Amino acid sequence: MAELAIIGGTGLTQLKNLEIERREVLQTPYGEPSSPLTHGRICGVQAVFLPRHGTAHTIPPHLVNYRANLWALQYIGVKKVIAVAAVGGIRSDMAPGVLAFPDQIIDYTYGREHTFFGEGRSGVTHIDFTEPYCEALRSVLIEGAARAGIEAVDNGTYGATQGPRLETAAEVNRLERDGCSMVGMTGMPESALARELDLCYATCAVVANRAAGRGDEALSMEAIERNLREGMARVRKLLETVIPML
Ligand code: HPA
Repeated sequence: MAELAIIGGTGLTQLKNLEIERREVLQTPYGEPSSPLTHGRICGVQAVFLPRHGTAHTIPPHLVNYRANLWALQYIGVKKVIAVAAVGGIRSDMAPGVLAFPDQIIDYTYGREHTFFGEGRSGVTHIDFTEPYCEALRSVLIEGAARAGIEAVDNGTYGATQGPRLETAAEVNRLERDGCSMVGMTGMPESALARELDLCYATCAVVANRAAGRGDEALSMEAIERNLREGMARVRKLLETVIPML
């Protein structure tokens, strides 16, 4: 049984280093996950892969069924989740192609189903979210990147925006004043839902572009895709190093 899940983001709808064994279609009390769960082995370790935006990358960030995704993973016995996510770099060290392991997050999203503690689960529950990411898993990611010789930033605050549009330059200035070092559209409610289910969850952010108003060139999908291709090659190498360490 897989205790490890990898949630793939934009640029990672398939995990080439996963030797696929079977696909599992699951229904949850919250609806369907973004895709069937793909079970297999990476470096001999049992793992499950779930592309957040669907197999054909058709589900935009604000329409991802985050609750179904996390619930499905917990239901099949997953304990640890490595969430891969494309971001825009705000802080100067967040250059395109670089990997970053955030240690904090600020939620700017709205209108998303963001908790399991509503109807159905009784009682008022306030999870401790002081440290939003699982430090044990984050440390392994940091150590793994160092061992694999991958350029990575070992901290940072992830600003989670609603999307699907990119931000204005003024919005990015505000995010920076708030202390955000990177900006993405999927970190929330995903990380909070993982905590509600007691999953050990950490993000591997892949910088796809300099955030709006920060780079020399205009934001283009071509440049973003190019940077993501390079970044995702690093992610695959990172996973090969990290998974045997878990
Ligand atoms: N902003 C928000 N989300 C993103 C970006 C960005 O600049 N790049 C990749 N995902």
